[in-house]
Amino acid sequence: MGRAFALLIQRQRAAFPFRIVGVHTRHGTAIHSAGLSADVTLGPALASVEEFLERARPEVVAELTTLNPESGEPAISHIRAAFARHCHVITANKGPIAHAYAALKEEARRGGVEFRFESTVMDGAPVFNMVRNNLPGVKVLGFTGALNSTSKVVVDALRRGKSMEEGIREAQRMGIAEADAGFDIDGWDSAAKAAALANVLMDARVTPQNVERRGIRRLTSERVRKLASERKTVVLISRARTTPNGIRLRVRAEVLDETDIVASATGTSNILLLHTDLMGTVGTVSISPGVHQTAYGVFSDLVDIAKSL
Ligand SMILES: NC(=O)c1ccc[n+]([C@@H]2O[C@H](COP(=O)([O-])OP(=O)(O)OC[C@H]3O[C@@H](n4cnc5c(N)ncnc54)[C@H](OP(=O)(O)O)[C@@H]3O)[C@@H](O)[C@H]2O)c1
Repeated sequence: MGRAFALLIQRQRAAFPFRIVGVHTRHGTAIHSAGLSADVTLGPALASVEEFLERARPEVVAELTTLNPESGEPAISHIRAAFARHCHVITANKGPIAHAYAALKEEARRGGVEFRFESTVMDGAPVFNMVRNNLPGVKVLGFTGALNSTSKVVVDALRRGKSMEEGIREAQRMGIAEADAGFDIDGWDSAAKAAALANVLMDARVTPQNVERRGIRRLTSERVRKLASERKTVVLISRARTTPNGIRLRVRAEVLDETDIVASATGTSNILLLHTDLMGTVGTVSISPGVHQTAYGVFSDLVDIAKSL
């Protein structure tokens, strides 16, 4: 995805004159203050992210490392290393938002830098920036989201008479399932997205472990086919609601009418409805997003940060 982001920056340069002054991965590093091209060949990797930041001296850091759903590390430490050097930070990695959002937001505020994460939940379709920029004064009271693509592909395979394992393999062939598909099937991905949304939009201060969670592992082809004969389907849904006892977060495979708007985002498409005080229910849909849409989300954060400077 980093490469898709670099290509986008390159293509948009006439209108948005951003420069990539460094790239650092585990296997290589490149630094050039005049700007790197998207097809740069990396040299040997510097020993640490800290050393990379010291040498590259960026104004904005895009943290795009692999998700660790259990702890959010090492991305959280990378973000802190960037804050410590007075860099604004964008991340597409939902780990830090699901595990440490309140602390990171406060650290960014104290450091006088921006912290953005549009791509973490809806692959770049506007959610966080929509609320920040277009819904002033609105309080998010809850949300309903069908946010996990793998589970949708698996349910569709079950409807066609395939097994759970065959459905998972289909999703893996499409490149959308995690290597450990249990992360999708057991609802952890949906829980991480629910925690990220609730932390940012509802100040929930939770982790994915706080989300009541039941996945689709026990779902059978027979059950899905019977439901289909009644024009119903099963969707893995992330929900949040405000109760007198606090915010309740839940991930569950729910039976919905096929015509339900939440069931309408099939395949790799996603839908999120925000339930608000002033704007009723308002939503975002992303039809078959891919890596280029995720890269666009990072780019939109970058433009937003540049505007705020
Ligand atoms: N792909 C999508 O469509 C999509 C959608 C939404 C969100 N995201 C999120 O965006 C992030 C990036 O996605 P991706 O698909 O590009 O992931 P990826 O293919 O796993 O690539 C991650 C990159 O991070 C580097 N990296 C990992 N650990 C590192 C470390 N400790 N220090 C320095 N570099 C490290 C890797 O370097 P090496 O190659 O050297 O190991 C690799 O270049 C993930 O958090 C993902 O969840 C992706």
